[in-house]
Amino acid sequence: MKLFVDTGNVKEIETLAALGILDGVTTNPSLLAKAGGDYRQILKQICQLVKGPVSGEVTATDFAGMLREGRDLAAIDPHMVVKVPFTQDGVKACKALSGEGKKVNVTLIFSATQAWLAAKAGASYVSPFVGRLDDIATTGMNLVREIVEIFDNYEYPTEVLVASVRNPIHIIEAARLGADIVTVPAAVIEQSFKHPLTDIGLAKFLADWEQAQTVGRTS
Ligand code: E4P
Repeated sequence: MKLFVDTGNVKEIETLAALGILDGVTTNPSLLAKAGGDYRQILKQICQLVKGPVSGEVTATDFAGMLREGRDLAAIDPHMVVKVPFTQDGVKACKALSGEGKKVNVTLIFSATQAWLAAKAGASYVSPFVGRLDDIATTGMNLVREIVEIFDNYEYPTEVLVASVRNPIHIIEAARLGADIVTVPAAVIEQSFKHPLTDIGLAKFLADWEQAQTVGRTS
């Protein structure tokens, strides 16, 4: 399963890219608004850092506007993926942009029929939002299971990109269900590194080693 980071923060991306575990990045208008500055420059910088798929989202809601913004986003860098919301205009724009050879990520997916329709429109990625479903007492991972099964049944090339991830358990569940990609906030990636037994174990190894060196030096 590929790991994307869900952020518009270049510093966070720099840190994770340096670890060698990052396959791509997703942004959305809220994340880029939070990052501040010129969004085109930020996206360009991110593409140069990760050299993998980077999703940038259109803010137009009509077909013509999505097409215009989508082409503009795709022109930023060859790694750019155009993100469109799942609406009728979004699906139409997905069909048109993917027909031009651009990669499209259809976002705000909350049902399996939406994912299937996006796949039929040539989406390279669909983004089911698991955390936001969990928030309304609906198990988000059931949606991922359904989409993975449907795409497998018909061998759709569209990748399942699990989004709105809130904790490391979401990552494990996405991997167990066979999702292609999980996009994770930097803080949750950080949490995924941590285990108290790793810290305790390392401290003990180092203490034992240090003690043996001291005994060696004094005997
Ligand atoms: C996906 O691409 C979105 O940017 C993101 O995962 C939304 O997550 P949220 O529900 O935490 O805002």
